[in-house]
Amino acid sequence: MALSYGSMADSEATSTATRPRAFSGIQPTGTVHLGNYLGALRNWSRLQETTDGVYCLVDLHALSVPREPGEIQRATLEAAKDLISIGIDPQRSTLFVQSHVREHTELAWQMQCVAGFGELRRMTQFKDKSESSQFVSAALFTYPTLQAADILLYDTDIVPVGDDQRQHVEFTRDIATRFNSRFGDVLVIPEHRIPQAGARIMDLQHPENKMSKSAESPMGSVLLTDTEAQIEKKFKRAVTDTDSEVRYDPENKPGVSNLLAILAVATDGDPTTLAENYTQYGPLKTDAAAAVIELLRPIQNKRSELDDQTTVDLLNLGADKARDVAVPVMERVRDAVKLL
Ligand code: TRP
Repeated sequence: MALSYGSMADSEATSTATRPRAFSGIQPTGTVHLGNYLGALRNWSRLQETTDGVYCLVDLHALSVPREPGEIQRATLEAAKDLISIGIDPQRSTLFVQSHVREHTELAWQMQCVAGFGELRRMTQFKDKSESSQFVSAALFTYPTLQAADILLYDTDIVPVGDDQRQHVEFTRDIATRFNSRFGDVLVIPEHRIPQAGARIMDLQHPENKMSKSAESPMGSVLLTDTEAQIEKKFKRAVTDTDSEVRYDPENKPGVSNLLAILAVATDGDPTTLAENYTQYGPLKTDAAAAVIELLRPIQNKRSELDDQTTVDLLNLGADKARDVAVPVMERVRDAVKLL
């Protein structure tokens, strides 16, 4: 390892220094499915080509709603395996667990001290989540301040997350700017970057909804860890419609169009053109299943090589790399706030 770094030192040193830093966080809850992969996560691994990628498994954010002891621990390990097997490279990028780097909670407190109560109350994710749950923790309310700390601790240039996170990134910019105007030029102001549009994969049983990991529709979503037989079965049972024309028309034929869309992203094709190859639903389902099996095969092979200990070791390496950046930034903040 040291040798190969050494031999690349000339070109690497300049390129990494000039690459913008991208920070992204994902909650470790449930197994990654095909919709997550083709929608967002595939872009994460591509992003490593052009940015200095920092990828954080935000286990403390996941704790903001009630969980059974041990649930997050298992989910975090599984999520780490998912990310590594889809191509996040723990050597080249920084992949780590939020709770392993204590500076996140420390900076979150500083952020709570500059964030306004009214500002937090306007967050739509808080409104949505608090309306649908009977217990609303204080952490759910201050969640955006921890997210801001995640981002700001790494002198992040860009935050490549979906539109649903735009408000949290705006909030981060606002409170970082406020902090700087009170305490000096300490924090780097990040920018939101909507990632290159991924595919919008729908539920196989309810094709009018996005594929999700909800337990109500286990046959509707394909997990990265599904066996060939499970994938074939899910596609065979996929909901289509009562006429029998194969045509890409998401509005009127959501089920069939979703199958075509999946086949298209898995084979780098075009759904409208692909439709011409089919006169019946059966062969389309078979081909879509086969294409997904092929698409997932290298990911599953890689996953099967990752045992728990190897994964933990890689996450420890990630936490070390994360601390190298986060500790000095936190020191800058402490110096600026001036506590005794
Ligand atoms: N709130 C984000 C979500 O629900 C997850 C997250 C936590 C995050 N910290 C982050 C995303 C920092 C981007 C940057 O998806």
